[in-house]
Amino acid sequence: MTNTNITFDKSTIPNLTGRVILITGGTGGIGAELVVELVKHNPGRIFFTGRNAKSAESTIQRAQVAAPNAPVSFIQCDLASMASVNEAARKILAETDRLDVFLANAGIMAKPEGLSADGYEIQFATNHLGHALLTKKLLPLLERTADLPGADVRVIITTSTAWGGGSLPFDRFKTTIKGHLGRWMRYSHSKLANLLYARELARRYPKVLSFSLTPGVVSTSLVSDLGLLDKGIVYVSQLGQVLTPEQGTFNHLFAISAPRDSLKPGAFYEPVGKLSKMETARSKDPDLPGQLWDWTEKELEKWIE
Ligand SMILES: NC(=O)c1ccc[n+]([C@@H]2O[C@H](COP(=O)([O-])OP(=O)(O)OC[C@H]3O[C@@H](n4cnc5c(N)ncnc54)[C@H](OP(=O)(O)O)[C@@H]3O)[C@@H](O)[C@H]2O)c1
Repeated sequence: MTNTNITFDKSTIPNLTGRVILITGGTGGIGAELVVELVKHNPGRIFFTGRNAKSAESTIQRAQVAAPNAPVSFIQCDLASMASVNEAARKILAETDRLDVFLANAGIMAKPEGLSADGYEIQFATNHLGHALLTKKLLPLLERTADLPGADVRVIITTSTAWGGGSLPFDRFKTTIKGHLGRWMRYSHSKLANLLYARELARRYPKVLSFSLTPGVVSTSLVSDLGLLDKGIVYVSQLGQVLTPEQGTFNHLFAISAPRDSLKPGAFYEPVGKLSKMETARSKDPDLPGQLWDWTEKELEKWIE
C-alpha cells in the first residue's frame, strides 16, 4: 500500500536549458528516476555517478527513451574510495565549465560492520566523506558558475529523518562502530553528518544555495535489499507511508524547481517542500556543524589530489 497523499506538479519544473546537473547514485533508485525525469526538461547536461556500469547503461537507455539524444554521461565513482572520488571529480572538471545543480544523493543504509578502502566506517565513508571530498573538489566550479549572469547554483544533500537518532562520535569513525542495532545507528550518524554538512556549507559558501532533504520512505533497493527483519520493521512502521520510486523524486524536484528566494539556506525539507521542524539536542548544538566541518577538512587533506 503506497502513500497517495504525496504529489508534485511537474509542470512547475523550469526549463533547464544550458544548466549542468550532477547526480550521485544515478545507477539506481531515486537517482535513476531523477535522471529520467530531468532529461525531459532540456538540461545542458546531466552527469550521474555510481559504481555499477551495467546499471548505468540501463539509466542511459531509459533517459534516451524519455528524451532522444539526451545529454547524459555516466562517471564511475565509488564514494567509499577517496582515490575513486578524486578520479571522478577530475573527469567531471575536465568535461564541463559550469555546474548548476549538485544532488549528493547516493547512499547505503543499515549495512553490516565494515571499513571503507581508506579505513573509515563504511556508511559514514559512503554517505558523508565521499560526498564531502567531491563537494570540496567541485566548489570552485560551483562558485564560478554562481558568478555567471542569471545563475542559480544549488547543492542539495540527501539525508533522512534517521538523522534524529544520530550523533557524531569523531573518535570512532575510523572503527566499525560496534553497538546494539549498530547498523541503524551508523546510518543515523552518517545522515546527521549529511544534515549538518549542508548547513555549514550554506553558511561558508553563501553564493551557492545549499540545503538538505529527505525523499521520504521509498520502495527502492535501499529498502528491498534489507534483511527480512529490517525490511519488516521498515514496512510495518511505515504502513501506508511508503512512496513509489517516482514519488521518491518529488522532494528533489521541488528542491530544483522552487524559486530560489523561497528556499532557506542550510534548512532541512521533508516531502514535499515542507520546511522541517524536527530538532534534536545535536541538531540544536550551534558548534557541531563547525566541528564536523573541521574534522572532515582535516581528514580530506590526507586524500585530496
Ligand atoms: N529509499 C528510502 O526509503 C530513503 C529514505 C530516506 C533517505 N534515503 C536516501 O536517499 C538516497 C538514495 O537512496 P535510494 O533509495 O535511491 O537507494 P538505492 O536504490 O539503493 O540507490 C542507491 C544509489 O547509491 C549508489 N551507491 C551506493 N553505494 C555507493 C558507493 N559506494 N559509491 C557510489 N555510489 C554508491 C548506488 O549505485 P551503485 O550500486 O552503482 O554504486 C545507487 O545508484 C540515499 O542517500 C538514502 O540514504 C532513502
